[in-house]
Amino acid sequence: MRKRIVAGNWKMNKTPAEAKALIEVLKPLVGSSEETEVVFCPPFLDIAVAVEAVKGTNIKIGAQNMYYEEKGAYTGEVAPDMLVGAGCEYVILGHSERRGYFGETNEIVNKKVLKALEHGLKPIICVGETLEQREQGITEDLVRLQTKIALKDVSPEDAVKTVIAYEPIWAIGTGKTATNEQAEEVCAAIRKVLTEVYGKEVAEEIRIQYGGSVNAGNAKELFAMPNIDGGLVGGASLKADFSDIVNA
Ligand code: PGA
Repeated sequence: MRKRIVAGNWKMNKTPAEAKALIEVLKPLVGSSEETEVVFCPPFLDIAVAVEAVKGTNIKIGAQNMYYEEKGAYTGEVAPDMLVGAGCEYVILGHSERRGYFGETNEIVNKKVLKALEHGLKPIICVGETLEQREQGITEDLVRLQTKIALKDVSPEDAVKTVIAYEPIWAIGTGKTATNEQAEEVCAAIRKVLTEVYGKEVAEEIRIQYGGSVNAGNAKELFAMPNIDGGLVGGASLKADFSDIVNA
């Protein structure tokens, strides 16, 4: 049985003081969630405050990115050790905003996934198509490719620690959610690739999230689909509404 996982991707929002205040609001609402794993992914500079603020609750902290080298002359980058040392358990990798604005390729995402796992961080690996790609009918081909390359050389033991987040780019921050059927169709295709690579038993253990304008109103139905094990939530994770999504 896969445990559901709902992660809040705060993106580039909240100062440390604001992060603390948001967590104080959310903590009583989602802090004791047992059926669903709850992860907050604040910006790097808020991580220390967030780790402190969630102490004594079931909430886990994740980062939104990391670099794939151990240390050294990489001005402005953050190493996996630093995230582990700061108290992160998860790290979002290959978000479409990183791919789109910062030139992250599938190969870079794969390097990051391998490095994160080597350090005991659990990657939330984002995949998804643009509207143009969907209209062209290549969504499943593309998502298969993104998933396969991201997991290249990842052992089955490590693969079960990863989470795949299917996020259609046209649904991110647009208020335009994929229908339950559209989301399920692609998540099922991802499960199929995982089965081809790792076999049924491992593939059945890996959690797949849907992301893209998830809100309190649509979460319940999306998360009820057979291959959707929770969500990666952007905008709605910055409000008390986030608790309705977790409780969905
Ligand atoms: P959104 O973002 O919920 O604001 O659409 C989701 C994401 O980018 O992870």
